[in-house]
Amino acid sequence: MINCVQKFCFCLIIFRNPFELIVCITKENTANVPITGRVEIGTVLDIYLKNVGLLCKEFLNFFLRSIETQPMTWKSSISDCRRREILFNDKSVLVTGGTGSFGKKFIEILLKKYKPKRLIVYSRDEMKQFEMQQKFDDSCMRYFLGDVRDSERLKRAMYQVDYVVHAAAIKQVPAAEYNPMECIKTNIHGAQNVINAAIECGVKKIIALSTDKAANPVNLYGATKLCSDKLFTAANNYVGFRETRFSVVRYGNVVGSRGSVVPFFKKLKDEGAEFLPITDERMTRFWLKLEDAVEFVFKSFQRMYGGEIFIPKLPSMRIMDLAKAIAPELPTKVIGIRPGEKLHEVMCPSDIYYDTIEFEDHFVIKPSVRFCGADYETDALGDKGHPVPDGFDYNSGNNPHFLTVEELRAMNP
Ligand SMILES: NC(=O)c1ccc[n+]([C@@H]2O[C@H](COP(=O)([O-])OP(=O)(O)OC[C@H]3O[C@@H](n4cnc5c(N)ncnc54)[C@H](OP(=O)(O)O)[C@@H]3O)[C@@H](O)[C@H]2O)c1
Repeated sequence: MINCVQKFCFCLIIFRNPFELIVCITKENTANVPITGRVEIGTVLDIYLKNVGLLCKEFLNFFLRSIETQPMTWKSSISDCRRREILFNDKSVLVTGGTGSFGKKFIEILLKKYKPKRLIVYSRDEMKQFEMQQKFDDSCMRYFLGDVRDSERLKRAMYQVDYVVHAAAIKQVPAAEYNPMECIKTNIHGAQNVINAAIECGVKKIIALSTDKAANPVNLYGATKLCSDKLFTAANNYVGFRETRFSVVRYGNVVGSRGSVVPFFKKLKDEGAEFLPITDERMTRFWLKLEDAVEFVFKSFQRMYGGEIFIPKLPSMRIMDLAKAIAPELPTKVIGIRPGEKLHEVMCPSDIYYDTIEFEDHFVIKPSVRFCGADYETDALGDKGHPVPDGFDYNSGNNPHFLTVEELRAMNP
């Protein structure tokens, strides 16, 4: 890289906060000319700057060394593919809840795309881990039995880990209502244990998975995930001068995930049921495939400064359309909405529209308490967003994009 940039004359830098350094190499002598905006520099470096300080080129090698040792704290226009390599190659990655639906798909895709140094599954049940080992036996794989309620075990597991995805959770709404303290211990205390261990072990980036049920929650599961979101976004406030950064990814129903409506409808169909039970004909849900959730998490690792809740723009589905897609021959019967259920799920609540930024394919909810001077309207990849209109509310009922019956069927739910 040094060879490529030596032909440029000047190096412009800006310290936006104590942790982030942005470097810009310009083609021309721009002395005394303040630059604002995007500076195109071929394919080597392309840096977005708001305020620019000038530095002569003697510092260039120093900053290039900084770049090499802290690859994710600077912005460049090298290709997305190259960024991917930088992200997980030769890095140690830990996934809490690695034996769950998300965890398994995350590990499958990560192993296809990257060459991690270590890929650690952290979960409780030895049987699930044993079964997973039969499928994923790459030499980088490590299987750690452990509970997120056990802070000492987490600290041991996160030793020399670079990236963490926190997916472990109790997520069945009725189970959480019936066993509230168990849900609180895993989803809230467990989240804080993950945060503490990550800070102590010097993990670079952590993404915690959240759910649309955490937005304006009406059940305990959603409420615990909202607490978890708050813990993770606030965690950036007490890392001090460490590099550790925490963000959240929030998404909606995963097509066919364990305990969801799809396997339920399919089971009824296979058992020759006379009708499909529908809680309310007006009910809608956000709908996404697991591989899309994984890709969105990969991307969020690249986009994050820390403190954001990343929300993908997803299609919605109507429950009546889903019933038609799975069992068109069966009639439906309305059985009434269940406790803790909503007609429509919310991703971006209207009450915090002022903290919501819209990007091309996703939204970002900024942290309510700012821990640094990050400009959340331009993400760490340089993509720009804009504030949403007053009172903006993104829910599965007002979503402009609904899947048709044919599209639902094509997704092979
Ligand atoms: N599935 C969806 O539709 C959906 C939608 C939005 C958001 N999410 C979120 O995405 C995340 C992953 O969901 P998923 O569908 O993959 O869930 P899942 O299939 O139920 O998997 C949960 C994982 O967490 C582990 N786990 C549970 N309690 C644990 C504990 N105390 N300590 C350590 N590990 C524990 C489980 O393994 P052991 O039982 O062996 O410990 C399992 O590996 C969750 O945070 C969930 O809230 C899911």
